[in-house]
Formats: sequence, C-alpha cells, structure tokens
Amino acid sequence: MEKQAAAQRIQELRAEIGYHNRLYSVLYKPEISDSEYDALFRELQQLEKQFPDLVSLDSPTQRVGGAPLDKFVQVTHRIPMLSLENALNEGEIRDFDKRVKKDLGLALDYELEYVCEPKMDGLAVSLTYERGEFTIGATRGDGTAGEDITQNLRTVKSLPLQLATNEPPLLVEVRGEVYLPLAAFQKMNLEREENGDEPFANPRNAAAGSLRQLDPRITARRPLAIFCYAQGAVDGIEFTSQYHFLETIPRWGLPVNPLTHKRKGLEAVFAYYREIEEKRESLPYEIDGVVVKVDSFGYQQTLGEISRTPKWAIAWKFPPRQAVTAIEDIVPQVGRTGVITPTAHLKPVKISGVMVSRATLHNWEEMGRKDIRIGDTVVVERAGDVIPAVVRVVPENRSGKEIALSIPHKCPECGSEVVKIPGEVAVRCMGLSCPAQICESIIHFASRRAMDIDGLGEKYIDQLHKLGLVHNVADLYKLTRDDFMQFERMGDKLADNLLTAIANSKERELSRLIFALGIRHVGEHTAKLLANAFGSIENLEKAAEDELLSIREVGPQVAQSITTFFHNQKNIEIIRRMIQAGVRPPEAKKKVGGKFTGKTFVFTGTLSRFTRDDAKRMVEDMGGHAAGSVSKNTNYVVAGTEAGSKLDKAMTLGVMILTEDEFLKLLED
Ligand code: IVH
Repeated sequence: MEKQAAAQRIQELRAEIGYHNRLYSVLYKPEISDSEYDALFRELQQLEKQFPDLVSLDSPTQRVGGAPLDKFVQVTHRIPMLSLENALNEGEIRDFDKRVKKDLGLALDYELEYVCEPKMDGLAVSLTYERGEFTIGATRGDGTAGEDITQNLRTVKSLPLQLATNEPPLLVEVRGEVYLPLAAFQKMNLEREENGDEPFANPRNAAAGSLRQLDPRITARRPLAIFCYAQGAVDGIEFTSQYHFLETIPRWGLPVNPLTHKRKGLEAVFAYYREIEEKRESLPYEIDGVVVKVDSFGYQQTLGEISRTPKWAIAWKFPPRQAVTAIEDIVPQVGRTGVITPTAHLKPVKISGVMVSRATLHNWEEMGRKDIRIGDTVVVERAGDVIPAVVRVVPENRSGKEIALSIPHKCPECGSEVVKIPGEVAVRCMGLSCPAQICESIIHFASRRAMDIDGLGEKYIDQLHKLGLVHNVADLYKLTRDDFMQFERMGDKLADNLLTAIANSKERELSRLIFALGIRHVGEHTAKLLANAFGSIENLEKAAEDELLSIREVGPQVAQSITTFFHNQKNIEIIRRMIQAGVRPPEAKKKVGGKFTGKTFVFTGTLSRFTRDDAKRMVEDMGGHAAGSVSKNTNYVVAGTEAGSKLDKAMTLGVMILTEDEFLKLLED
C-alpha cells in the first residue's frame, strides 16, 4: 500500500477502533464480535509496522503495555486524595444537608443544588494530563502518595491517551474509578476456573489485581473501564462547579457515568437514591451506593474538609447484598477436571430479590480458614458473581453440634483416591472412569460456548451415561433415535431435535472443538490462538512443545498440558472416532462467490427471529460482510424493534431497510 493510502486507512481504523472501544467500555453495547475487533486491531498493527513513522502516541495499538516492572514507583499526589464519610439512611442525609447549610449560613429551608453520582465499586485512580497528554496515572495509596501505574492505565481502552481538544489546559488532574464490567468479570472467572486458576471473589478484587500487575501485558488482556468523577490539581483552566467539570470532561473524551445528575433539594436527592437503587441489579457494573456532592465549588471551598474527608460530600451506601442463613449441608462436588470443591446447601434465603440456596466455599483451604461447618449460621453475599459466596460464620449462634468436614480422601462419586497437587489449592479425583468427571466433560463439550449442542444439557447427559450409552464425547455422534426414546417423557420431535443439534455441531469452528476437548489450561482464548496457529486438529495433535511455545501467550504450563493430552492414546482414539463420525470444522477461509459477495449488512434493534451472531454467520456464509455501523458503503440495514440511531442514519443516507422477515426472504430467494 502507498504511504498516503496507508495514512488514510490508519486514520479510519483508529476512528473505528476508538468508536468500538467506547461502545464496549462506556455504553456496553458492542456492535461487533471480539474476533472482528481483533481483525481491525491487527490490520492497524500491521500498517503501523510497515510505516513506523505513522505511529502516534494516541494510537489504540499503543495501549498494549510496555515491559514488566520490578516494582511500582511512589508518586506524591499534588492534592491529597480524600475519602468520603458514609451515610446509611435518609436521616443521616438530612443531618448532612443541615450541617452544610449551617456552615454556609443558609436558611434551613433553602434548597441546595447537589450533584448525585453512582458510587462505583472499583479502585480510585488519579490521571494527570499535561497539555492534553496523559502523563501520569496513580493509585490512591494512602491518599498522600500512591503508586505509579501509568503503563497499566494506558491499557484501559476508554481512557483517552490524548484529550480530544485543540486547547488543552496546561495541567488537569482527573480522579475516577477503574472497574471491571460484570460480564467481563464473569467471563474472566470462567476462564480462570477452566485454566485451573483460583477465581476472583468479586469484580473489585479482579480490577485491583489487574491494575496492580507489574506486567502491563497482563493488564491489557483485562477489559477494565473507568468513570471519572472528581477534579484534582488544575492549571490554565477553572471550573466553577462539579457539574461544570463533569459536563466539560466528556467533551475531552473522559468517560463520566451517564447516571450522574444535578438535583435541587433533599427530596430530589432521595428520589435519585431510589431510582439508582432500583436500577442497581440491571447495571452492567457494580455500585455500592450513591455519592452526593455540593455542586458549587465556591461553597465547597467554604466548607473545607475535616480529617481527610470533605465536608461537602457524602457517600450514601446501599444495604449490603448479604443475608444470614444456615448451612444445611456441605457437599463435595466433582468437576470436569476432577477438582472436588465444597458447596454449601443453604436454608433458602432472599438476597436483594434473588432466592439463594447454594453457595460456594471456593476450596477446602478457605473452608478451613473460615472454619465453616455444617449447621453453622453464616453470612452469605452476592457479589457480582453468579454463585453467591459464604463470607463468614456467625460464631455467637454456635450450639456445639456443628459438624466440621475434612478434605475427602475418596472421591464422593467413584470412590477413587483423591490427591492434593502441590502448589495448587485444588483437591482432585484421579479416577479415570469417574462418572462425575465423564458427565462434566460431556456437559462442557456440548455447552453453548463449546460445541453448542442445543438442548443437550446436564439432565440428558446424566441419563445417557447411566444407561451406558455414552462414555465419552465421541459416543454422542453414534446416538440414534431409539437411544433417546428410552428416556421418560421423550417424544419423536424432541429426540429428532436433539439428533439434529448433535449433527449440526459437526461443523463447529476449530477453536470451539479445541476448547470443547477440555484440555487443562486451554480456555476459549487459548483455543482461538491454537486454531489460528495450527489450522487443523491433526496439526495440533502433532505439534511439539517448542512449536506451541512459539505462540505468544502460550507458556510452558499450557504447552505441556497440550502435549500430555495428545500423548494419551485414549484421547487420540476419541478424536479419531469423532472425525470418522463426520466432525469436520470448516476451513477458516472466507467463502467467496456467494450471493452476498461485496454486500455489507448492518443489523440494528432487537432481533426476534434470529440472534445477531446467527445473522452474521448467515451473511458471511453467503460471502457478505456484517458491519457495526451504517455508512454510505452499507447496502442493507436489517431493523428489529426499537431500532434507534442506526435506522435514522440509514434513512438519511437512503440505504435499503429490511425487516427481519424480508431479510430471511432475501436469504431464501
Ligand atoms: S468522590 C473528595 N465520587 O469512594 C471526594 N468517590 O470513600 C473523593 N468512589 O476513594 C471521592 N464512586 O474510590 C467519589 N462518584 C464517586 C465515587 C467515588 C466511587 C469511591 C472512591 C473513593 C471512595 C470514597
């Protein structure tokens, strides 16, 4: 490519990547898949490699993180980072409002203007921009000095490396909260469990662990996000109020929580709290209350601070999402990889609207450390994760009849020997024919993110195993209608659906097949890397350890686990049988010559006839392209219900608009 054309394309790519970064980490409405995003990113990296003088500091490629550090350097904050006083109810907010008005010499019935913000449950950071350029990022530390985590913060995609203004102030220090969106947290924990790593207890810990990585490349892999909420030191600009500040900085590209509002008077503040509390469960991130701040900076100055907390702000905390209940039983559960974890069966209890009857005790070490026993009264918490956790025992309620459970010596499912692997907290069943492991591995194989065999869940897999019809994943592909008809309450139609779903899974992409095999330490991400690098299961099977190690992100532990898996004759045989049965991932190459060749589709609004992923696949199967945003190059916009700005744009540009039915018809024609 000519340099001029490259420069043009680089600009386009940066804009597009920036747009998708914002959609993902500010609005949580990704329009493109991870792999499409990766493709854009790689194209940009490639062009910048080819034309190094076109690389600029604010390019998204510069966010991948520099070399690892030995330790963090201390930085002193120009202005101390304060913390907030807490309030737990309306009465305490009334007291706060009274105090403020008294100190300001205002009448008691005066309605003050407050800025109300969600209280993000993450980590406070300080961001320094000098002449618009992001120069220093630091943790709060003890409030006076924190740690320099600039390299790590550069990897936070929604944080601008350059302020989007032609007239940046000499200096502006912005404070905000770095957090991990819930979806990313859950995905990360699943991956950690699949890789045999200890999951994080809550999104806050996960965010903290990610930010305090000495190796920024690890931070770069964690989809952290940020909301800014306070002014630090400034030079060359003056803000008159909190609202003025929060209104200005998004124009520079700094994300501010869209639920931030100015409210006049106490009643309006109370209403705000109720609104946010109601929204809490549906927000894509964790909040633990709202923060109420006197809007006027003039008033703030008059009020001042006391013992490191401002007198002009207060945190109104939500009641914790905890409940007290009793442990009726502690049951050891055997997972797919043989790991045995203690699970508490609870006396059912409602926690913020959700009935909870199971909680994880994480592992035996932690159960011992917290001294959790059967019969104990315990505090249970829902902390962003799907499975609630037992926080602590209420010792006052002990009667002496509680039963402490010790690490099992035998597998509760198959009676095999149990081993504790040195250096791991996990306890593992080593039984090769352990039914729990077999069933779990088949459940994993069939699951949505693996081979996606619709309808084939735990219930059927357990029955198939009990009837002796399935001993491993290859057996799924020899099942017949008669096999299924032996089940209770099974009809022709259901049996056929299950068989079709199994048959459809034969053509899943290679990365899914690799992930589905359940090789230890090979999660979804690693499976994708392996699929890209080797192209077929046969090639992967033959791969030597050093070949595997030549893939970036594949370390010795992963490489060894893969070779061990493929050295096992039993595994090889299962794979052979699957291939014989017709399991054949399609070639990764794009199909050319389909009837949609050269056509670009955009899907928008709520789709009810098919999912967005399906739609994309259908278009791509016919040689077309599904894009995230509407432009003059778009050929068709397929609009579901509640289609918004994209539909408007399509109309303005005169792009052909289709309903879902019209799209399906076009496919069939
Ligand atoms: S303002 C001087 N606003 O809560 C005011 N803090 O206990 C400094 N936090 O350390 C903080 N959301 O980590 C402020 N909208 C928000 C916040 C917020 C979360 C955290 C922050 C701070 C702690 C104070």
